[in-house]
Amino acid sequence: VHHNEDKIDYVFKVVVIGDSAVGKTQVLSRFAKNEFCFDSKSTIGVEFQTRTVSIQSKVVKAQIWDTAGQERYRAVTSAYYRGALGAMLVYDITKRQTFDHVARWVEELRAHADSSIVIMLIGNKADLVDSRAVPTEDAVEFAERQGLFFSETSALSGHNVESAFLKLLEEIF
Ligand code: GTP
Repeated sequence: VHHNEDKIDYVFKVVVIGDSAVGKTQVLSRFAKNEFCFDSKSTIGVEFQTRTVSIQSKVVKAQIWDTAGQERYRAVTSAYYRGALGAMLVYDITKRQTFDHVARWVEELRAHADSSIVIMLIGNKADLVDSRAVPTEDAVEFAERQGLFFSETSALSGHNVESAFLKLLEEIF
């Protein structure tokens, strides 16, 4: 569906966060451009991509911010989270440590983002079934306890990427 720029009803800022190399940039590129890049470089600074969707016959432009998971590139925080209505908190289902750090990312959100921000926990790289290190149940339990939405995705195959973003945008709406 083609949307005319001047018919946008709402602009929703969404931030993507999580440890380095969990696939934040690729999940976002899959949603924004339906693309996947195998030799994706680590993000430096902040970048954003947009995609416009229809929700309940309103035109919503999602402005999705992506930043480096690496501590040394993270000069952002307050500016990055300012005005964000939603957050995609991504971990890698094959790297337990990236899931163990999710609690810290939630703390960072609670400290810097608006208290009404909608958070979606994303277990990415779900295509790597043989290397799974984080059981789905662990993430479901954590998400329920923290009041987060949850989905497992694959930026590579595209599995669940669209539905996760749409769910987040609908919840913001
Ligand atoms: P930083 O910018 O360093 O914070 O990393 P990032 O979280 O943005 O990770 P990025 O999107 O650059 O992806 C890291 C690596 O994981 C790349 O080699 C991707 O090709 C790979 N990758 C990302 N998503 C998937 C996925 O769903 N499945 C598989 N198999 N690999 C993925």
